[in-house]
Amino acid sequence: MNILAPSLLAADFNILGKQIKETEKAGAEYLHIDVMDGIFVPSISFGMPLISSIRDTSGQFFDVHLMIVEPERYIREFVECGADGITFHLEAARDVRQIIEAIHEAGAKAGISIKPGTPLEAVYPYLQEVELILIMSVEPGFGGQPFMPEAYERIRQLRNYIDKNKLSVKIEVDGGVGKKNVREVIGAGADICVAGSAVFKKRSISENISHFMAAFKENEKKKMISDGKIR
Ligand code: DX5
Ligand code: ZN
Repeated sequence: MNILAPSLLAADFNILGKQIKETEKAGAEYLHIDVMDGIFVPSISFGMPLISSIRDTSGQFFDVHLMIVEPERYIREFVECGADGITFHLEAARDVRQIIEAIHEAGAKAGISIKPGTPLEAVYPYLQEVELILIMSVEPGFGGQPFMPEAYERIRQLRNYIDKNKLSVKIEVDGGVGKKNVREVIGAGADICVAGSAVFKKRSISENISHFMAAFKENEKKKMISDGKIR
């Protein structure tokens, strides 16, 4: 089954704990936590103190997306304050393998993210070493941007490569995913969908999430039919 990772960036920080609990109750297994440093991306978001203070409100997998330069400097701290997985940007990494090792040594799952302009093939050498590849479907830095349709082909290409080589690395897609395109995104081969605005804005969190869950269930059924497990 696909996984939903609501992005905290779009939450109402005045009632953050309550909203996180709502996402968990509605079926979101991950919580996507965007850390921005004002250098790798123009914006600044939040860091360790916030993660520590929300850790106990939820049993979700804390999926920390580091949009920072020199990610190697902070791996241990992020794991200590509650990250279950750490995804860093390939574009920000000097020694990719060293960072992957540091994440694993600290006891977390490792992910690599690529911006829309970075060739997909750049992550191929690491697919056996990480648990996750995060394909950005917007330029990182801000929530609420429209999904870039070029991402579909990148998801498809990576899905084919992973399946052909019988790898277990997961594909996560981040930016502009919502109820209108979620079917296409998972149909192209994404395992995990990040969604900020589509979860926290407009309608209630539970209603917003129900659209994702319905799409995930349909996709699961389709896969079982095509695998011959059900008719
Ligand atoms: C953008 C962040 C995203 C963002 C997604 O740099 O990495 O996680 O919060 O927000 P939406 O779903 O609103 O595009
Ligand atoms: Zn993100």
